[in-house]
Amino acid sequence: MLDAPPPWSKRTLAVQAMGGVDPITKAVVPPIHVATTFIRDEDNAYSSGFVYGRPDNATVREAESVIAMLEEAEGALLFSSGMAAATAVFQALDPGDHVVAPRVMYWALRHWLATEATRWGLRVDFVETDDLEALKRAVRPGETKLVWVETPSNPLWTITDIAAAARIVHAAGARLAVDSTAASPVHTRPLLLGADIVMHAATKILNGHSDVVAGALAGRERDGFWERIVGIRKNQGAILGPFEAYLLMRGLRTLHLRAAAQAQSAQALAERLSSHPHVARVLYPGLPQHPGHEVAARQMEGGFGYMLSIQAAGGERAAIATAARVRLWKRATSLGGVESLIEHRASIEGPGTPCPPDLLRLSVGIEDVEDLYRDLDEALHGAHGASSG
Ligand SMILES: Cc1ncc(COP(=O)(O)O)c(C=O)c1O
Repeated sequence: MLDAPPPWSKRTLAVQAMGGVDPITKAVVPPIHVATTFIRDEDNAYSSGFVYGRPDNATVREAESVIAMLEEAEGALLFSSGMAAATAVFQALDPGDHVVAPRVMYWALRHWLATEATRWGLRVDFVETDDLEALKRAVRPGETKLVWVETPSNPLWTITDIAAAARIVHAAGARLAVDSTAASPVHTRPLLLGADIVMHAATKILNGHSDVVAGALAGRERDGFWERIVGIRKNQGAILGPFEAYLLMRGLRTLHLRAAAQAQSAQALAERLSSHPHVARVLYPGLPQHPGHEVAARQMEGGFGYMLSIQAAGGERAAIATAARVRLWKRATSLGGVESLIEHRASIEGPGTPCPPDLLRLSVGIEDVEDLYRDLDEALHGAHGASSG
């Protein structure tokens, strides 16, 4: 680790994984620590700071220090998935507490909130958190303990004004948590805008190679609430494995390059697809006509992220037929990898989804953007020919 507060940029620090070097061999890539248990000192202390592998692991700690640095957080915790990270935040609340979450958000977490969390005693209201007046009406001073927002939110990529939401939430005596998976720390730093906790499905662009399932939390303060979350991770055994933490750290070394390239391609595709004859609507916060564009331009820097959605002019059948025809885009769920993915979102979310049936979700990777456009263009034309013929 670098000792003094480093003068280097976040990008530089991430590339060198905070300068970590193995103290014994001087290897520039630190080893993967696999031990589950550690020697107790003769005086009965644990001077190394490590006791057992379920609460803590040195490789996990190294990746956490990169994420804490990127988010300018006092602490970061890695979990075995994004869902494990997100649910730990809600589990740190007490039964009876009131929480507010977005009406349209990552569907599995929404489902968990509507079922498990409610069964366990949380009172959950789903509102359009990008509508600040609606948010104001939803929070109950003294009763609301947590407001969860996702921005840009999956899969419509609506934008919530984090700074304005934080003012509303804090005035009611609650905490604000932000799922920043689609923004990444390269484009948005929610803690600097007033949020208390940031969550990432690190499975996505933080790792970036579609080969690790992981979740991250970053906290503005290591307060009592944070310590509860630390206890939940420890006692529920939800820590990330050391091999996954190593792969995640390798991914983080190139995060800035990937995020910049992916956002640039997403912007170019969104602009070109906006005038495509077989696309009814493009949802991307980087487009001036997007309802959240003005706020996004204020709170996001260096681009608007790697995710966009299109609504097919020919409706649901045309959307599914388009996804069936791509040759380069991979027809798969998930997001944030170097390879581009396309998904008919309503099919995976199932009955009751608020996702429009004509929507295709696009996760933009780092392939040649001309190839990406050509493949989609051909698929859109082919689908149109098939559905109109
Ligand atoms: C925005 C968002 N949050 C959370 C999650 C959950 O992450 P994981 O699949 O790692 O549990 C996802 C997964 O797709 C997501 O897209």
